[in-house]
Amino acid sequence: MPTLKIHHIGYLVKKTDSAIHSFTDLGYKIVQDTVYDNIRKVNICFLQKDGYLIELVSPASGDSVVAGLLKRYKNAPYHICYETDDFEADYQALLTGGFTAIDTPAPAPALQNRKVVFLMSASMGMIELLDGTISG
Ligand code: NI
Repeated sequence: MPTLKIHHIGYLVKKTDSAIHSFTDLGYKIVQDTVYDNIRKVNICFLQKDGYLIELVSPASGDSVVAGLLKRYKNAPYHICYETDDFEADYQALLTGGFTAIDTPAPAPALQNRKVVFLMSASMGMIELLDGTISG
């Protein structure tokens, strides 16, 4: 899948505000203030340093999709997001290649409502696939 490009690293944090303080102390800059994702019930903020885009994700409620992950992983990176110019083709190719979808493609409010889907691989854990074409 040569069209896949790394877009961001998803970083699970318990509390967005205190995490932002810690990251900015290390020289990260806020590139997008915190946005509430009502589909996944998470708060999302984007930070950047040295060309790397980091997505801070924290659960906004106990039934958030990441509440269970946070209990297991604590504050930690937990997915790499790949951007594609051919979402459907790469999504199908990933499924064929052994990935399992853990949700269905849906808009991401923190990413201009571009379509994303999360997939799991037994050998590499969780990835996110992002539609690289701007729509709507
Ligand atoms: Ni992400």
